[in-house]
Amino acid sequence: MSSQSSHHGSTAPGINVGVVGATGVVGETFLLLLASRAFPVGELRLFASDASKGLKKKFEGREIEIRVLEEGCFDGLDIVFFSSGDDISAEWAPKAAKAGAIAIDNSGAFRMHHDISLAVPEVNGHLLPKLKRGERPGSAAQIIANPNCSTIQLVVALKPLADRYGLEFVRVSSYQSVSGAGKNGIEELLTQTKIAVEGEEPAKGRTFPKVIAFDSIPQIGSFTTDGSANDGFCSEEIKIMKETRKILALPDLKVSAFTVRVPTLNSHAETVWVTLKKPVNNRDEVESTLSSGEGIEVFKFAEGMDYPTQSFASGQDPVYVGRVHKDPNDANTWMMWVVSDNLRKGAALNGIQIAEKLYGL
Ligand SMILES: NC(=O)c1ccc[n+]([C@@H]2O[C@H](COP(=O)([O-])OP(=O)(O)OC[C@H]3O[C@@H](n4cnc5c(N)ncnc54)[C@H](OP(=O)(O)O)[C@@H]3O)[C@@H](O)[C@H]2O)c1
Repeated sequence: MSSQSSHHGSTAPGINVGVVGATGVVGETFLLLLASRAFPVGELRLFASDASKGLKKKFEGREIEIRVLEEGCFDGLDIVFFSSGDDISAEWAPKAAKAGAIAIDNSGAFRMHHDISLAVPEVNGHLLPKLKRGERPGSAAQIIANPNCSTIQLVVALKPLADRYGLEFVRVSSYQSVSGAGKNGIEELLTQTKIAVEGEEPAKGRTFPKVIAFDSIPQIGSFTTDGSANDGFCSEEIKIMKETRKILALPDLKVSAFTVRVPTLNSHAETVWVTLKKPVNNRDEVESTLSSGEGIEVFKFAEGMDYPTQSFASGQDPVYVGRVHKDPNDANTWMMWVVSDNLRKGAALNGIQIAEKLYGL
């Protein structure tokens, strides 16, 4: 902990924070939210690649120079948020933990490790350890994984249904924005769109497997082709299926995911077919159950048949649910549309909420 008092007037010591990947779209969202949520930041250390070394970022009137990762760079930090990809997290998150900090990792490197928490505070936040302000995490230091962005919004929406009715089967198809692939994904959509609008044929870029401008791509990540039950699934789909079971603590839940990249800038949408353990006939009851969940806002059918869109959800914190209706083919199955900002609830907001929960903020 830093001895300085926190910026919002509290006399409790500030929490010393590191952000790895501070120049990326998730890293920038971390900085935005740390400030807007008045997280009591003591010292703030920002890390990125060699290419960004020495650049400066503003945070609440402070000007902070971007550093690169090097031995000892986490000494004295309490929490380090990682958003620089799997390889960087795999190498550096254990070093942050060893230096006595809690590493909150946005990558896929640790999510399915059996001894690492995969945390969504609204769903399984009770499993997180409790830390005292003014006391360094020290020996309690560890790695906590932030789930995949599409998984987070799905489990937030499923949680109240699981608690009230039990879940039998979840089928989900996603419509995922280009910001889910980082700053290069956004750049690729904008560049290709401009070329197409000018009447030229855009070439395939480096981020997506096909041209994304004015098209949808039914592949996120690489395909499994090992002849197993996962053969033909792409990695994003497998993440959703495995992580959902782990976070909800329902190892036998049937989850089937199909993920699609669409040419929207930000926020992911999902169509979800959720089969409950018992029949429920009343839409109001299902919508009210969803509304009772933490972090969810429901567009109710009776209130004008409106629904959330991806641009509506962008820059917002909640997981929005709309279009709740019953599958006429099965008494226990309800269909719904789930939308949330992948950079906020799908990444940085969830990470900060984990930190807030740790410190009881
Ligand atoms: N985008 C999402 O919706 C989302 C959601 C959940 C989780 N995530 C995860 O969050 C991570 C970052 O995603 P992003 O979307 O923010 O990507 P991004 O916009 O491409 O940003 C990547 C960040 O990593 C930094 N970086 C690259 N090489 C580095 C190195 N050797 N050492 C330190 N930093 C390095 C980059 O720094 P430079 O600017 O210097 O290159 C940049 O700050 C990934 O693990 C991703 O899977 C993303």
